[in-house]
Amino acid sequence: MTILSEPSTLPNLISRRNLIFELGFGSGDFIVYLKKKYSEALVIGAEIANKYFISALKKLVNLHASDYVLYRGDGRTLLYFFVPMKSVDAIYINFPDPWEKPSREERRLVSKRSIMIYYSRLKITGRLYVATDSDPLKVYLRGVFDELGLQFIEFRSSPYDGFETKYARKWSNLRKQISYFIIKRGDDRGFGLQGEYVSYMPNFIFYLKNGFEHKMDQISDTLPINLKEGDFFYKIDRVYRSKEGEFLFRVFHSEPFLSQKYYILLRFHEGKAYMEIDDKNGLIISKWVMKTFKDLSTRVFEELGEEVIFQNFGSGE
Ligand SMILES: C[S@@+](CC[C@H](N)C(=O)[O-])C[C@H]1O[C@@H](n2cnc3c(N)ncnc32)[C@H](O)[C@@H]1O
Repeated sequence: MTILSEPSTLPNLISRRNLIFELGFGSGDFIVYLKKKYSEALVIGAEIANKYFISALKKLVNLHASDYVLYRGDGRTLLYFFVPMKSVDAIYINFPDPWEKPSREERRLVSKRSIMIYYSRLKITGRLYVATDSDPLKVYLRGVFDELGLQFIEFRSSPYDGFETKYARKWSNLRKQISYFIIKRGDDRGFGLQGEYVSYMPNFIFYLKNGFEHKMDQISDTLPINLKEGDFFYKIDRVYRSKEGEFLFRVFHSEPFLSQKYYILLRFHEGKAYMEIDDKNGLIISKWVMKTFKDLSTRVFEELGEEVIFQNFGSGE
């Protein structure tokens, strides 16, 4: 079993395998069912909630389960950034949180935009499965499938060889009507949705001006720095002195399928300044993270810098 702590390593794991995804695996029982059904395939599960992730992980470890990849995070992010077009055999989403209010559409695992991503990642004849008990979500899904021209079948009982997930059992016991939607990919449309990322960390090194120590206050006075460009947004709102000669800038970052909070470190040593991203674990370095890093680095350099020694964020966008 592999725990995917660095999502950018996913492409190395998936080459030439049949791929099955489950998004929002909750208790983890359905992943076990999937592995029995597709014994030769690589089964990849994503679960955003820490407590479900940990309890499912314990269960799978006790079963000595192998050949799974588990990701603690947003399943949409994984597919958007790290899974190639036309590479997936099946994607299963059982009882996604419905977020029934229209204003919450973008939070849904099955929003219009995320369905376009799933569809484009399926192989031709690959399948997307969605189960739900929520009447507003059923109406929404039928509308989205029609709008996108996707062929679908809607079943009233489990198409999973009779297997019912924890939530399927819960809603059946409460006599709620469940719909199981199956969408089969039948055309070549990719919808142009591919997240861009880099697999290296941005770095910036420069010589400091004389008297730079007194200029840090000027930088912190210019915070917060905000940027909004289309669906992308960042806010650099605070700078903390972490220890002598080290400062951490706090960044809130949001773009489609990716919301992250991280820190950019500025460190002084022997007349030079070093900037890098702190806490690198699991951070996705999208092109917008690069832009954020470049914007802050440029601002800091204007105040404190004498001459650039090294940078790898290019001209950026
Ligand atoms: C109602 S539960 C269903 C659990 C399980 N699929 C079942 O049928 O028993 C929805 C699950 O989706 C997870 N979830 C919600 N949004 C997610 C996302 N963007 N990526 C991965 N998991 C997500 C939740 O944490 C929760 O465990």
